[in-house]
Amino acid sequence: MCGTPDPVDELLDAAERGTSILADRSVLHFSHMPESIPHREKEQKKVTQSLLPILKHSKPSNLLVYGKPGTGKTLVVKKVISKIRQRVEKSEYPVKLVYVNAKNDSTTTGLLVSAGRQIGLDEGALPTTGLSTGEVFKRILASIIKGGHNVVLVIDEIDYLAQLILKTHKDTLYQLTRANDQLDSGSLTLVGISNDLKFKELLDARVLSSLSEEEVVFLSYDVAQLTRILEERVGAAFVPGAVEESALSLCAAMAAKIHGDARRAIDLVRVAGEIAEREQAPRVTDAHVREAAVKIEENKEEAVLRSYPLHEKMVILAVADSGGTSTGGIYAAYKKLCNETAQDPLTQRRVTQMLNEAEASGLVDGQIVHQGMHGRTKKYRITVPGQMIKKAFGDDSVLKDLV
Ligand SMILES: Nc1ncnc2c1ncn2[C@@H]1O[C@H](COP(=O)(O)OP(=O)(O)OP(=O)(O)O)[C@@H](O)[C@H]1O
Ligand SMILES: [Mg+2]
Repeated sequence: MCGTPDPVDELLDAAERGTSILADRSVLHFSHMPESIPHREKEQKKVTQSLLPILKHSKPSNLLVYGKPGTGKTLVVKKVISKIRQRVEKSEYPVKLVYVNAKNDSTTTGLLVSAGRQIGLDEGALPTTGLSTGEVFKRILASIIKGGHNVVLVIDEIDYLAQLILKTHKDTLYQLTRANDQLDSGSLTLVGISNDLKFKELLDARVLSSLSEEEVVFLSYDVAQLTRILEERVGAAFVPGAVEESALSLCAAMAAKIHGDARRAIDLVRVAGEIAEREQAPRVTDAHVREAAVKIEENKEEAVLRSYPLHEKMVILAVADSGGTSTGGIYAAYKKLCNETAQDPLTQRRVTQMLNEAEASGLVDGQIVHQGMHGRTKKYRITVPGQMIKKAFGDDSVLKDLV
């Protein structure tokens, strides 16, 4: 049979024929550790210096590392920890280097259990479930004392822990910062990392002063610095000449506008590369980068929608369904949705609050409309495409049949 070629074969043929513009995709993955970390020499030195006492068998000061997102905080701290680990592995001195991310654990107990595992406490000694935070903490301390361990505990995105503590009123951070008072052998050093400085306001003054015995601030990258970081990454990830110079500059310029975020710069070039590859284009161009920027924004909005709790999602759906009405109309549409899904509706007051939050996040747009003698009213509209809502809510078990 001649005529139209098979669409599957066509793509497979092209992929086999075409030389990929990507030489090593993994270099663009967020977990990749680059060989060198340009423009962060000073910060690498400061973090290392702060932790140096551990090599000399004494307790380092607690350390707080902060700066805007994508400024290399996690990268630098992980590198220093891994270099220290390589050295202490060879020595007899009992050092334990522990890294946890507070965003990955929804409870303080969970976070402490993750830390405990890395100190060497197994499921028998420290069960994942069933213990109170206080008990987990006690067992960790007992193990540190018993082994005489000198522990460096890195808590990345520590602002999430501060939020959690605020909600649960547990004094985990206070206990952690004061743990040394209870240790007659071994030590515990805290390294907190945060991109949200407001979290300082959430902390008890005593916790803050103890946590920030030392501080290292990561400033945002400028365009030139982002360009250099990208050049190194692109050189390792793509085949030579596959990313046009102007495309690379555009990635750096766009990321510089977003508070000098290296993650965004790398994401842009990665997504642009994927788009170019899909098109079987020989090179990544400015147009690919622009397309990538739109796609990343869309993905972000979709992720926000996806992460909403059920009733927030229903409020968004109500706005989308009722298109351009005021709070009353939206509440009626929301109640109808609750009825269809057999959910108990929340009060109009609560729904109005959710509406304000959705407006603040930019997913919903509120416009004051003057209605002559009837005064003014605010009308709401959804700002994201219906297709995106469909995709984001499509796998919600309650809403999947509605969208
Ligand atoms: N100076 C640099 N050289 C090379 N790559 C870098 C540099 N700074 C950051 N990166 C890369 O940028 C991305 C973001 O860096 P990192 O995860 O360390 O940011 P962060 O400051 O921890 O951000 P957040 O506060 O959002 O967690 C990573 O892929 C990292 O490898
Ligand atoms: Mg980080």
